[in-house]
Amino acid sequence: MSGAVASVDGTPEPGDLVAVVAAEGEVLGYAHVAPASAIRARIVEWGKDSAGEEGLLAAVRTALVRRENLPGLVETDAIRLVNSEGDGLPGLVVDRYAGILVVRPTTAGMQRRASEIGEVLRASGEAALLRPDAIALRREGVPVEERSLFGEVPDVPVSIRERDRVYRVDVRHGQKTGFYLDQRDARDLVSDLAKGRRVLDLFSYTGGFSVAAAVGGAASLVAVDSSKEALARGAEHLAPVAEEIRADLVNADAFRWLRGGSEPFDLIVIDPPPLARRRADVSKASRGYKDLLMHGMRRATPGGDILAFSCSHHVGPDLFRKIAFGAALDAGRRIQVMATLGAPVDHPVSLDHPEGEYLSGLWLRRAD
Ligand SMILES: C[S@@+](CC[C@H](N)C(=O)[O-])C[C@H]1O[C@@H](n2cnc3c(N)ncnc32)[C@H](O)[C@@H]1O
Repeated sequence: MSGAVASVDGTPEPGDLVAVVAAEGEVLGYAHVAPASAIRARIVEWGKDSAGEEGLLAAVRTALVRRENLPGLVETDAIRLVNSEGDGLPGLVVDRYAGILVVRPTTAGMQRRASEIGEVLRASGEAALLRPDAIALRREGVPVEERSLFGEVPDVPVSIRERDRVYRVDVRHGQKTGFYLDQRDARDLVSDLAKGRRVLDLFSYTGGFSVAAAVGGAASLVAVDSSKEALARGAEHLAPVAEEIRADLVNADAFRWLRGGSEPFDLIVIDPPPLARRRADVSKASRGYKDLLMHGMRRATPGGDILAFSCSHHVGPDLFRKIAFGAALDAGRRIQVMATLGAPVDHPVSLDHPEGEYLSGLWLRRAD
């Protein structure tokens, strides 16, 4: 997009749809503008011909059709229906939890069109909650509107089913849209690896991985998170599936907790929040990831598995692997990479938006 300028008459308001014109005068596409944000324009339609506001609604319909018959989306009633740039809809995420949709705009442009988007989504659920990303909208200089788009959004958590796992999702107050759908495939892996093992779930949130481990037959389980509310929900999730196993839910800073102990584990999940939200944070974040990985490797038993994630796109797969290599050297452990891990099929990434591939995971195994 270098050399391109947004062509508008007058001063654009946040969320206006404007033509994006190259220096030579060629129309490249149409974008929602955000004059106050570092990203001034997000292209919602490429090319010189525009379907106007209808183009965006057509893209939402296409995203819904794309989810039909996708392998990997069976045996669950919780899926991502719209994945922002990955579906050609920058600034719009829609998750469905059983019949309840959570519509999460991260831009003024998408928030402004939420009612029309809600109409397109009407046949895809019983109710839809508009729950914008407040931090992102503040950056665009617009107030946040939270409301029902249609139907009655329940005040109590929504029960979802994923394979043989059951969770209750707080769509109104939970992190992001309420649950981490992007870790579905990794939860399956944890379930497959857990049998008879001592499992550590670091940054557990509401116990997505802990439940997977318990259902998979873990011998014992420790979950650590700094959010008391998330751990309380995790305890509810674990109650029906972890009756027979020792499960400790620890409210602590996971960095300190990991450094401060020596208890060994056979399966360790490390899923911190994004440690590098900006490029300038990368070296500090790298030290943080390395610290977690090094101590995790020291705690892993011989043959033990570590599933480690970076959800900062600034710390992508190559850097994350280098960090793991440095951590293994410092931990004095021989480590194999069993597989790379990432978000599942309902989180497509557009080739022209590699930043959309924000989740980099490694399945590591202690080989000594
Ligand atoms: C990416 S989410 C984890 C998602 C979770 N693994 C799942 O699959 O549902 C990051 C979690 O880290 C927690 N967190 C943030 N900083 C923390 C810290 N220093 N120590 C422990 N937990 C922390 C947050 O409360 C949040 O639940």
